[in-house]
Amino acid sequence: MAKFLFVTDLDNTLVGDDLSLRKLNQWLSEHRRLYGTVICYTTGRSLPLYQQLIAEKELLEPDILILSVGTEIYYSGSNIPDSEWTAKMSVCWDREQVLEIARRFPCLVPQSPLEQTAYKLSYYTCLDGLSATIPQLQAILHNQGLAVQMIDNFGGAFLDILPESANKASAAIFVQQRLGFTDNQTVVCGDSSNDLSMFENMFCPAIIVANAQPEILAWHKKSSLKNKYIAQKKFAGGILEGLDYFGF
Ligand code: GLC
Ligand code: MG
Repeated sequence: MAKFLFVTDLDNTLVGDDLSLRKLNQWLSEHRRLYGTVICYTTGRSLPLYQQLIAEKELLEPDILILSVGTEIYYSGSNIPDSEWTAKMSVCWDREQVLEIARRFPCLVPQSPLEQTAYKLSYYTCLDGLSATIPQLQAILHNQGLAVQMIDNFGGAFLDILPESANKASAAIFVQQRLGFTDNQTVVCGDSSNDLSMFENMFCPAIIVANAQPEILAWHKKSSLKNKYIAQKKFAGGILEGLDYFGF
């Protein structure tokens, strides 16, 4: 047994089945105590919505917390996001300008103000019209010299606009390097569109829970990457199964 970096999404990955969550929590806290395993949560939620979740569910205190789809990295004991990461994201990012341009698209309806942060703008989207909206929006932003990336929930429900350099994968890689974990000493877990960057862009083992979005399961079917494991079980039960599969 040896320490590793455990990176997991929250909604519908770690959280969803309270009984399995309790089992996984026990296993992880033992691993952290005995070997120094590092627990990192990565979620689309902003700080207030994360705080809501921890009030409702029994979650372990993470060592690292990545919020708002990779745009804020916190270390245990500090409520100030990693400033080096913030500086990286600031390149070619002009929040006000992006906001102003996105306003021109009726298909984009802003999510709650609680979900709008310095480096993440989030919208609800209409189903039809989104496929036309995204390339148009992208072209305008590009012409203005704004380097953004958009993560949409596979054509429905949500659209996040982030600085080009930030997503769940780039934030997790930043943490991995900062803490000195290799790919073999890292595992990432997820279920949905904003987790895809971790599955696609990280070389480490990945656990995709059984209840993942159909588009994620379809991506896995087509992918030739070998160390991405689809669990038979859902939620935390799937994570436990995957950890065992990879021999952690
Ligand atoms: C979470 C966030 C939301 C975001 C979505 C997709 O639900 O709360 O703002 O749009 O994840 O990343
Ligand atoms: Mg999720």
